[in-house]
Amino acid sequence: MKIYIFGILLVIMNYSECANILYVVPFTSRSHTIMLKPIGLELARKGHNVTVITGYLEKTDLPNYHQIKIDHKEIWEILGTERPNVFTMTEISAEEFHDLIFWRGGLAFTEMALNSSQVRQFLAKDNKFDLVISEQFFQEAMYTLALKYRAPLALVTTFGNCMRHNIATRNPLQLATVIPEFLDLNEPTSFWARLRNFYFTFYEFAWWRYWYLVEQEHLAKKYIPGLPDKMPSLYDIQKNVSLFLINSHFSFDSAVAYLPNIVEIGGVHLSHSIEKLPQDLQTLLDKATDGVIYVNFGSNVRSSELPVDKMNAFLKIFSEINQTILWKWEDDKSEIKSKNIVFRKWFPQKEILSHPNIKVFISHGGLIGTQEAIFHGVPIIGVPIYADQYNNLLQAEKLGFGKILRFEDINEQSLRNKLIDVLSNNSYRIKAKEVSSRFKDRPMNPLDTAVFWIEYVIRHNGADFMKNPAIQLSWLSYNMFDVYAFVLGVTILLLYVIIRLILYIRQYFRINVHKNDTVKNKKKL
Ligand SMILES: *[C@@H]1O[C@H](CO)[C@@H](O)[C@H](O)[C@H]1NC(C)=O
Ligand SMILES: *[C@@H]1O[C@H](CO)[C@@H](O)[C@H](O)[C@H]1NC(C)=O
Ligand SMILES: *[C@@H]1O[C@H](CO)[C@@H](O)[C@H](O)[C@H]1NC(C)=O
Ligand SMILES: *[C@@H]1O[C@H](CO)[C@@H](O)[C@H](O)[C@H]1NC(C)=O
Ligand SMILES: *[C@@H]1O[C@H](CO)[C@@H](O)[C@H](O)[C@H]1NC(C)=O
Repeated sequence: MKIYIFGILLVIMNYSECANILYVVPFTSRSHTIMLKPIGLELARKGHNVTVITGYLEKTDLPNYHQIKIDHKEIWEILGTERPNVFTMTEISAEEFHDLIFWRGGLAFTEMALNSSQVRQFLAKDNKFDLVISEQFFQEAMYTLALKYRAPLALVTTFGNCMRHNIATRNPLQLATVIPEFLDLNEPTSFWARLRNFYFTFYEFAWWRYWYLVEQEHLAKKYIPGLPDKMPSLYDIQKNVSLFLINSHFSFDSAVAYLPNIVEIGGVHLSHSIEKLPQDLQTLLDKATDGVIYVNFGSNVRSSELPVDKMNAFLKIFSEINQTILWKWEDDKSEIKSKNIVFRKWFPQKEILSHPNIKVFISHGGLIGTQEAIFHGVPIIGVPIYADQYNNLLQAEKLGFGKILRFEDINEQSLRNKLIDVLSNNSYRIKAKEVSSRFKDRPMNPLDTAVFWIEYVIRHNGADFMKNPAIQLSWLSYNMFDVYAFVLGVTILLLYVIIRLILYIRQYFRINVHKNDTVKNKKKL
């Protein structure tokens, strides 16, 4: 009897546990990898046979974690341009940024990934997958792998809500409150901001849908063997997505309406992963009784490219205060000498932010770093440079634990004001702790949430019932335009009939009154 039950249990466990999952995260950016890697690893730890297409090989002894490495090149190498000073990105508009980086870079990146020799070898083999999970970041050609393997498709993003998710899954756009991730708008609900939002969304949609996706489709057909001859468009493939895991959480991002197959997993990389600080840093942080300021402008920005005047402003202000400064630099030995600044090529960021002596995080406002600061309740002074950074920092400022310092405004005065304010006014720390506690207060941690929904979609063969039935409707019907047109038509017709009737009745009485009048008049005569 016991053996019998054990047998059934084994069958059930095997059924639910051992799926073949293809995890496509080809974008070679460190911050993307930091967020996305834990999901693949956790799926493998749960016993799934995970195959990852990735730009960074992970050292792991999990035998069921197979890695296909794509060639690693910097975006500038691929675009064949000189690497610009990334600080100059503060000067260009969201449209220019899309044109230069996302559209052109995205196509080049996708082609490089698909043309990587390991990827080509892998695609030529005969594999079977129960689910394809792909990052959603300007490499939509990868989504056709779900067609190739006849598997449901799940998408995961490193950022929060955006037009492309909403349109694809037929989630409401909510343009009045949801800002596209790359626009910097101070008052998102004001008339001009909504107009700007509408214009940008229109621009993005038109280019994406009618040009970019078509180019991506060409790449898919060129490089991915075994696709069906009659293939649905990439747009339709996205409409049919089973699951969207997005990197946001309503405790920090705005509250937004989501379909059941859009799941917020903001903070996913922080669930299980706080490690010990290296001994030297631990000692340094423990000893810094006046507190520590941590400076990191992200992996794409080189601090050494800061203009001299702005750099000097930082050094001047840092020399005036008693706090220790940890500054992520391009190399370990900066030529700058200072009594209280430690320059390093790399810092274990989330472990540093978890130390109680950290007072302020001076950051570019990238989402991953911002979430790490939120998680550990650390106030931020943010210098936004490009992409979603301004919006992340604006949110931090609104919630009271951050201050924005515009790049062009950096000087001794502004730096001193902001730094002294955040260091001396306790309200930033209190707010940071408050947001931290609500960010962590969830029924299940975000990594387990992600894994749960991924397994759920596998268990229910793509969970079609979670998709919005509106994906079957045309754009006209989905937006109710046909019904509105009908109602408008009927209303106009009714008004017309009523007006005609009134005119007729008036005419009728006028004639009668006129007749009576003439009769009366005749009598008088
Ligand atoms: C796991 O996936 C790899 C492809 O990366 C495949 O070669 C292997 O056969 C799969 N193992 C099982 C047990 O399905
Ligand atoms: C694809 O890769 C091959 C060699 O691996 C190279 O010769 C070729 O130029 C690449 N094609 C493109 C479009 O990058
Ligand atoms: C730095 O520390 C010294 C000695 O403890 C103290 O006199 C000074 O006021 C401190 N400076 C600041 C800016 O807090
Ligand atoms: C601290 O900051 C808060 C929020 O910006 C502000 O309302 C408060 O007046 C400040 N307190 C001091 C003492 O400056
Ligand atoms: C949509 O996805 C489901 C799996 O979730 C699949 O069975 C179905 O064939 C797909 N439909 C289209 C039109 O691609």
